[in-house]
Amino acid sequence: MNSKVTLSVFKADVGGLVGHGSVHPDMLKEAKKTLEEQKAGLLMDFFVTHVGDDINLVLTHQEGVDNEKIHKLAWDTFLKCTEVAKELKMYGAGQDLLTDAFSGNIKGMGPGMAEMEFDERVSEPVIIFMADKTEPGAWNLPLYKMFADPFNTIGLVIDPNMHDGFVFEILDLIEDKYINFSCPEEIYDLLVFLGASNRYVVKSIFRKSGDIAAVSSTQKMNLMAGRYIGKDDPVLIVRCQSGLPAVGEVLEPFANPHLVAGWMRGSHYGPILPVSQKEAVPTRFDGPPRVIAMGFQLANGMLVGPQDLFADVAFDRAREKALKIADYMRQMGPFEPHRLSLDEMEYTTMPLVMEKIKDRFE
Ligand code: F6R
Ligand code: MG
Ligand code: MG
Repeated sequence: MNSKVTLSVFKADVGGLVGHGSVHPDMLKEAKKTLEEQKAGLLMDFFVTHVGDDINLVLTHQEGVDNEKIHKLAWDTFLKCTEVAKELKMYGAGQDLLTDAFSGNIKGMGPGMAEMEFDERVSEPVIIFMADKTEPGAWNLPLYKMFADPFNTIGLVIDPNMHDGFVFEILDLIEDKYINFSCPEEIYDLLVFLGASNRYVVKSIFRKSGDIAAVSSTQKMNLMAGRYIGKDDPVLIVRCQSGLPAVGEVLEPFANPHLVAGWMRGSHYGPILPVSQKEAVPTRFDGPPRVIAMGFQLANGMLVGPQDLFADVAFDRAREKALKIADYMRQMGPFEPHRLSLDEMEYTTMPLVMEKIKDRFE
C-alpha cells in the first residue's frame, strides 16, 4: 500500500445566501453527509467549510493526486450540495459546475482544486488558505514573502535547513506553460513574472531536495464567450516548520493587506482582508476580498484541528488597515485603478455602448 498521504482541497460556488455572500448551513450539512457515507475504503479523513459563497472540501487519502475516484467524490458532493441549493433557491445554484457529466478529472469542469502528495513527517503542520472574491494571483505576493523574502521569513537567514532557498513553479495562465525559478539565485527574474499576477501565478513551491512545500488551485484560464475568465476564488496549501517556513512566517504576509483583483463583479482592486472563518461573509460592495487560514496537524492522515489562525487579535490591525484602504479605494467609484482595466474585467458594457455611439466618433 502507498505509504504517502495525499491532501486534496476542492472548492466550488454552488449557490449563495444571500446573493454571493455565504452558503446555507444545509448545503454544508449535505457535503458532510455525502463524504461520511462515501468515506469507507477511500478517505482517511475530511473537513468541510466555506469562505463566502464557496464550499471547501479538504480530503486526506492515499490515492495520489489527480485520482479519478477522489475527483468524482468531490464532484458528486458538489452535485448533492447543488440539489439542496436549488431546493432553497439559493442564488446561482450550481453555477460552478460547468458540465453535466463527470469526465474523470475535475480540472476544467468548474471547481478549483489544490492537491499534494507527501511522506507525512514525524509532525506535519499544514495551513490551508481559502479566499473569496479574488483570483489565484492573490497568492503571488504572500508566497514570495513566505519563501523568498528574509524580511518576512527569518528562517531563510538563520535556519541551516532553509538557507538553500526554494524553487518556485510558475504557470502562464494564458499560454498554459510552466517554468521553474530557483531562489534566491533567480529572484529578480522570478519577480518580473510574479509581479504580473493577472497572468503569471505560482502553481507550487518545492524544497531544493524536491519535497513539496506549497500548492495553489491555479489552473489555466477558461476561454468563455471569447474572453478569458480566471477569477476562481483560490485555495492554497502550505506545509510548515522543520526546514519550511514556520506557521508565523507563513501567516506574516497577511499582516499587511495587499491589493488583489476581484471584489464587486470580479472587476475591482481591493485589499485582501484576513478573517476568522465566522467573519468569512463578504457583504460590503460584495467584499472586500477575504482570506481564511485553517491550520491542521496531520496524524496518519487524520486532520487534527482546525485552528482558525486569522482569529488571532494580532491580525486586528491588518483588518483595520484593510478597511481604511477599502474606504479610500471605494471613493474612486468606477475609475481605474479601483476598477480593473478593460481587458481584465469580468463584466463590461463597452461593446454595447461602443456599438450604440460608434457613428458619433469623428
Ligand atoms: C464577484 C461576485 C459578485 C457578483 C455580483 C453580481 O466575484 O461574485 O460581486 O459579480 O453580485 O452578480 P450577478 O451578475 O449574479 O447579479
Ligand atoms: Mg458567487
Ligand atoms: Mg466566491
